[in-house]
Amino acid sequence: KRVRLISVPFWMGGSRAGTELGPESIIQSGLARQIRSMGFELVGNSEVNCPRHGVLDPKQPKTKYFPEVKEMSGLVGEQVYRAVMADSFPLILGGDHSVSIGSLAGLTGHYDNLGVIWFDAHGDLNTEETTPSGNMHGMPLAIAMGLSKFKLSDIPGAGPLIKKENVVIIGARDLDPYEKEFIRNEGIACFSMHDIDRLGMKAVMEKAIEIVSKGTDGVHVSFDMDCLDPTEAAGVGTPVPGGISYREAHLALELLAETGRVTSMDIVEVNPLLDVGMRTSRLAVEMATSLLGKRII
Ligand code: ARG
Ligand code: MN
Ligand code: MN
Ligand code: MN
Repeated sequence: KRVRLISVPFWMGGSRAGTELGPESIIQSGLARQIRSMGFELVGNSEVNCPRHGVLDPKQPKTKYFPEVKEMSGLVGEQVYRAVMADSFPLILGGDHSVSIGSLAGLTGHYDNLGVIWFDAHGDLNTEETTPSGNMHGMPLAIAMGLSKFKLSDIPGAGPLIKKENVVIIGARDLDPYEKEFIRNEGIACFSMHDIDRLGMKAVMEKAIEIVSKGTDGVHVSFDMDCLDPTEAAGVGTPVPGGISYREAHLALELLAETGRVTSMDIVEVNPLLDVGMRTSRLAVEMATSLLGKRII
């Protein structure tokens, strides 16, 4: 299997400096070396030339840094699309979670019916109408499903929207009122921390895998590092107590690896400025290798 690393040094979706340093820090923590030592061919290690600075438009408080997010998404989409067309596994390193708008734009250019597993403390289901913060990293899943004015199809090269029945959220524990309503009304599969406590991660993953496997031609895993417990992963912009444990996270990703169905991944929201040493970056490397099939024995 061939892996292509796509670095996206972007922070403006979270309106907080630091996540633009995530990709470099994850790579410094040994990602490339580990992937190669697992027997993968690393066919590329490219950095998306995304906007680094932006000016906040006071007239657009509900879509902060929109022009920059849109530009970044187009650039990410292009590279992700090229990677899948060349039969390699795109591993996208954020950056804040708005980079997933780009990942999904590129992936839908190729896959007709993509399954998506969204590991996150949050729902990322807000729109420009419902956002409490105006930060676009709280919107990528809504944009991908076509709920907001800004749609995936506004990005050149993007394909069909992500279907609601192909989405699973795992690890949620901080949902805004509209997000809760939407999840309930539309029957979005959402395994909250309550469900993980109650059913155990193994059962949750079995259900999740069944949902994203039904009729899909690819499975994307979007891994927001804030799904993890902040005692494990302190270096994130929006930490929420009571998250997924170290062992639960490994189990979840190992079970996904065993299915052989996962076709792409993004790892987002690592903020080295808020980290304890490089712990969160190192943990990000572990998450990636676990999903790619690293085993204890
Ligand atoms: N729900 C909040 C918002 O819309 C927080 C979103 C946090 N998202 C993230 N990718 N960390 O602003
Ligand atoms: Mn997120
Ligand atoms: Mn989050
Ligand atoms: Mn389906």
